[in-house]
Amino acid sequence: MSPVGQLRALEPSDMQEVVRVQTAAFAPSLTEPPEALLCKINGFPRGAWGCFCEEELAGYIICVPWKGEKALPLGDTKVIPPEQADHLYIHDLAVHPDHRGKGVATRLVTQAIELARKTRSSRIALTSVQGSQKFWAGWGFRSRQKFEYAPGAPAVYMVRERGSHS
Ligand SMILES: CC(C)(COP(=O)(O)OP(=O)(O)OC[C@H]1O[C@@H](n2cnc3c(N)ncnc32)[C@H](O)[C@@H]1OP(=O)(O)O)[C@@H](O)C(=O)NCCC(=O)NCCS
Repeated sequence: MSPVGQLRALEPSDMQEVVRVQTAAFAPSLTEPPEALLCKINGFPRGAWGCFCEEELAGYIICVPWKGEKALPLGDTKVIPPEQADHLYIHDLAVHPDHRGKGVATRLVTQAIELARKTRSSRIALTSVQGSQKFWAGWGFRSRQKFEYAPGAPAVYMVRERGSHS
């Protein structure tokens, strides 16, 4: 499959596009206000990328340094400084329905794994929602705990250990 779109770091000026893709990709109970997304992009710019087709955002990923074995709360406006963190957390991955099945998520997840490798992150964690568990399992993430992330939104906390990306 030939690469789709252009990958670059997300910037605060991309927020309108990020919100558009988020709204199209997630159930309403799983969407976050722009300030919750923006604080993560501003707090850890190395961890946020978008894949653009022309000027349009096809998909994005937002990763932050995180601590402990727990999900990052939805809507949270905190980011842990990298020196206090003990792993990389993929907080958000979304591809607009018009651009799915073309390898956009593959490019974005590859970026996150490369960042984990460069920063020697002990592990990568995430919260799988909307039935994406098999997608993440394909990237070497293992299920740790099932829980309800938002009302009516079952989720699975998943972890990929360093051995898979060192
Ligand atoms: C899950 C998602 C990010 C995949 O994006 P995408 O750009 O279509 O994925 P890709 O084209 O890179 O697909 C990569 C592979 O994963 C597979 N895949 C995609 N979504 C999947 C899913 N939900 N479950 C299992 N496999 C999946 C594809 O079939 C493809 O397999 P192949 O390489 O054998 O053909 C996208 O469907 C999405 O944004 N969903 C809504 C938001 C969401 O649920 N995000 C994850 C939250 S944790």
